[in-house]
Amino acid sequence: MKQYLPNPVNELMKASYTGQLSRRDVMKRGGALGLSATVMGTILASHNAAAQDASPEASPAAAQPAGWSIVVPEGLPDLAGATISAMLEPDGPLAAFDQASCDMFAEATGATVNYIMGPPTDRLVVMQQTMAAESSDIDVAMIDVIWPGIFAAHAVDLSDQVGEVEFFERIQENNTVDGMLVGLPYFTDAGLLYYRTDLLEKYGFEGPPTTWQELTDMATTIVEGEAAANTAFTGFTFQGGAYEGLTCNALEWQYSNGGGSIIEPDGTVSMNNDQAKAALELAASWVGTISPEAVTGYMEEDARAVWQGGNAAFMRNWPYAYSLSAASDSVIRDVFAITQLPMGDGEGATHAATLGGWQMFVSRYSENQDAAKAFAKYMVSPELQKARAIERAALPTIGSLYEDEDILAANPYFETLFDVFESGSVARPSTPTADLYGEASLEYFSAVSEILTGSAEVDSRVEDLAASLEDIMADV
Ligand code: GLC
Repeated sequence: MKQYLPNPVNELMKASYTGQLSRRDVMKRGGALGLSATVMGTILASHNAAAQDASPEASPAAAQPAGWSIVVPEGLPDLAGATISAMLEPDGPLAAFDQASCDMFAEATGATVNYIMGPPTDRLVVMQQTMAAESSDIDVAMIDVIWPGIFAAHAVDLSDQVGEVEFFERIQENNTVDGMLVGLPYFTDAGLLYYRTDLLEKYGFEGPPTTWQELTDMATTIVEGEAAANTAFTGFTFQGGAYEGLTCNALEWQYSNGGGSIIEPDGTVSMNNDQAKAALELAASWVGTISPEAVTGYMEEDARAVWQGGNAAFMRNWPYAYSLSAASDSVIRDVFAITQLPMGDGEGATHAATLGGWQMFVSRYSENQDAAKAFAKYMVSPELQKARAIERAALPTIGSLYEDEDILAANPYFETLFDVFESGSVARPSTPTADLYGEASLEYFSAVSEILTGSAEVDSRVEDLAASLEDIMADV
């Protein structure tokens, strides 16, 4: 039942992401398809050169138990004869869980559910194209927390599906556009710092770093000490590729240094300031020192592969990496911990975690809206959220689940970081940019990428970026 959108770009993305094709072949095929440099850049950013020789620890999806802890909620409707297609997680460590969720819904309702794996890159573009064509190929989709403004015009209002469930207010508000609930909150996300407890101890550090400068210094010491025995060893791994993940990482660097949130909630472009520039400058200094040069192409799974292979002292990633790092087949399972990300030391410095997360969206072009709505509601139900929290460390969007003993046993840090998860994270500027968020983020991560790779100088590049963001805001 697994299927990708029958689209040559998706196929190429998949081949690149899974390492089925060499970089050269990906470029050749992209050229033949006439893809733009930007699209090719994003596809290549996800290229998994290590796929063929990846250790089993780096991709434990296949090793997951078949049973999962999914409990099917009661009272699902009879949907015999209905067929829906749901675009969910990409191929990777979360796919098996999504497949099981679809299968169990199908079994309980009689509906046929096609699981379409989301493309790992350019998912937004694929969704935009599908919706612009008013295509019924996708009935339900996971949409990113930054997309409600983009897809409001194509959505079915889901306010009548909320029922008794008390979702986090902030996310429900985020997902409401002109009074319409564009997505049901499925799971939330926040950037976290993963660190190696054994290495901190070995080098005499008492605890994880609280500032980015401390992280830089600690990583430098650890890399110096480890490099002789392990040439693959690196200090800090993060999402430095030119894609949405870099927007999330860089927002954390600059916001935590008192450098604002790119475009403020009232629409003011605040990008051009010294604290943001200083934060980007420090990040650029990591590339090729405490981080590998290749980090400028890393997405989540690339960063995790290095970390999970035991080859990094620190990693910035989302909570999903916790369950995988702690899995029984993980080489680092007993020697890591997580905490909040470090902060800067500029004026107004504060810890910052970018708000991430995914929502269930139903397309107004769906020819099976009732089944699609029932599926969306099922996916965000407390039962499914609980299973996903236990199995995949997904952060629930329902407050009471943070008191659930089984969830806390699997994820003890859910308790200590509750405030961050509930309301304390920093939002990307998707509300003020509305349906132009994609353009604004593209401008931002492209500029940051040029700064990281050293092809642009911070001051002038940030000034140009601020000017482009002003232009975008003039069109909102
Ligand atoms: C995670 C977050 C999402 C974010 C993405 C960036 O999936 O949940 O909000 O946009 O990472 O790569």
